[in-house]
Amino acid sequence: MRDVLVLNGPNLGRLGSREPEVYGTATLDDLAEACVAAGRELGLHVEVRQTDDEAELVGWVHEAADGRVPVVLNPAAFTHYSYALRDALAMRTAPLVEVHLTNPAAREAFRHTSVVAGVADGTVAGFGVLSYELALRALAALLAERGPAGPQP
Ligand code: DQA
Repeated sequence: MRDVLVLNGPNLGRLGSREPEVYGTATLDDLAEACVAAGRELGLHVEVRQTDDEAELVGWVHEAADGRVPVVLNPAAFTHYSYALRDALAMRTAPLVEVHLTNPAAREAFRHTSVVAGVADGTVAGFGVLSYELALRALAALLAERGPAGPQP
């Protein structure tokens, strides 16, 4: 099974209690379970991580770049302003799908810009936890299309 990282940025550890009218009632654990189950069906071994720390997230992206590990990423608020995250993502060679629970384009103006979108293969937004399941499906399709090139020795 191909390893995949599902990375989550700041405040996503608070899912369930964070503005449930906006983000829903599923917790990060619920989301992680759904991702692992969706991955299993797609032949992917999914590891879900969350951090509030930009440096830690950038470090995980470096790890993914070095290991050529495909990534599903919800950068949360970093989406809108972290050039450090964008630059780290630009180094990766395996597929990257940007994901959002909500549809940022339908929210406040500051959420309309993603500095990450330009270095992602695509974006899935607006479907809650289903966004992640769809993103994993897209990732599996990209991997099938691009062949089994995994980590280099
Ligand atoms: C989010 C949207 C972002 O604008 C926001 O800062 C988040 C969550 C989403 O999943 O809908 O923290 O990425």
